[in-house]
Amino acid sequence: MPTVQTNGIETAYTDQGQGDGPPVVLIHGFPYNKSMWDDQVAALSGSHRVITYDLRGHGDSGATNETYTMEMLAEDLHILVEELSLGEVALGGFSMGGYVALAFAAAYPEHLDSLMLLDTRHLPDTEQAAEGRENLAKQVEADGVGGLAEALPARMLTEATVNGKPDVVAKASDMIRAASPEGVAGAARGMAVRRDQTDTLGSIHVPTLIVVGDQDGITPPVDAQAMADAIYNSTLVTIADASHLSNLDKPDEFNRALVDFLSS
Ligand code: MLT
Repeated sequence: MPTVQTNGIETAYTDQGQGDGPPVVLIHGFPYNKSMWDDQVAALSGSHRVITYDLRGHGDSGATNETYTMEMLAEDLHILVEELSLGEVALGGFSMGGYVALAFAAAYPEHLDSLMLLDTRHLPDTEQAAEGRENLAKQVEADGVGGLAEALPARMLTEATVNGKPDVVAKASDMIRAASPEGVAGAARGMAVRRDQTDTLGSIHVPTLIVVGDQDGITPPVDAQAMADAIYNSTLVTIADASHLSNLDKPDEFNRALVDFLSS
């Protein structure tokens, strides 16, 4: 597994496929890792160069014991983009990955060819949500990530997936088990202090795809619509019968949205 040094840790990444367009870089959600993109890499790598990587504290990347602000995670990504000489990228971020993508868009707009905001939102946590993050951080620090691996996937997938696709649920749980407690705590605390990115939306001028599952209760369709209204050159795709992890609930529909966008 190749790695790049990013601010004191090894960041693990994959680099597959090739094509004429800009490289596609995909940022996973919390507390998963780059293997959440397996179906998308398979769909895109015939016609695009696709880079996936593990955020610090997740998957095969190193962890540090601190609050992972979205700006810190965007800086890690910036180093990856520079080290691989990617130039302008088609950047896709799922949920927490979308928070990182918006922080990246604010800090490094010169590296954006286009943007994909996937089951994510621009708004910060409420006070209550931030308190919940702190409780979660303390819980994983005390007990490890096992409880989260058992409980979380079912809250992020549709009932149809949970009941009908045990392999998908098991994959989501395995990804969580691969995260370190300090990584999960660091990311949870970082999300709790993330800033409101409403002002960033108005500054985005690259083509932007927004995807949301119609049953996404974590980053709901109303927020996806608000982002679409605020981003000048955006397209909103709502996936029917999909929850938060819409790429795992409905991979074909999700892939079609990405392929159509990237080829347009
Ligand atoms: C994610 O999928 O990355 C998280 O659910 C995002 C969040 O909790 O805000």
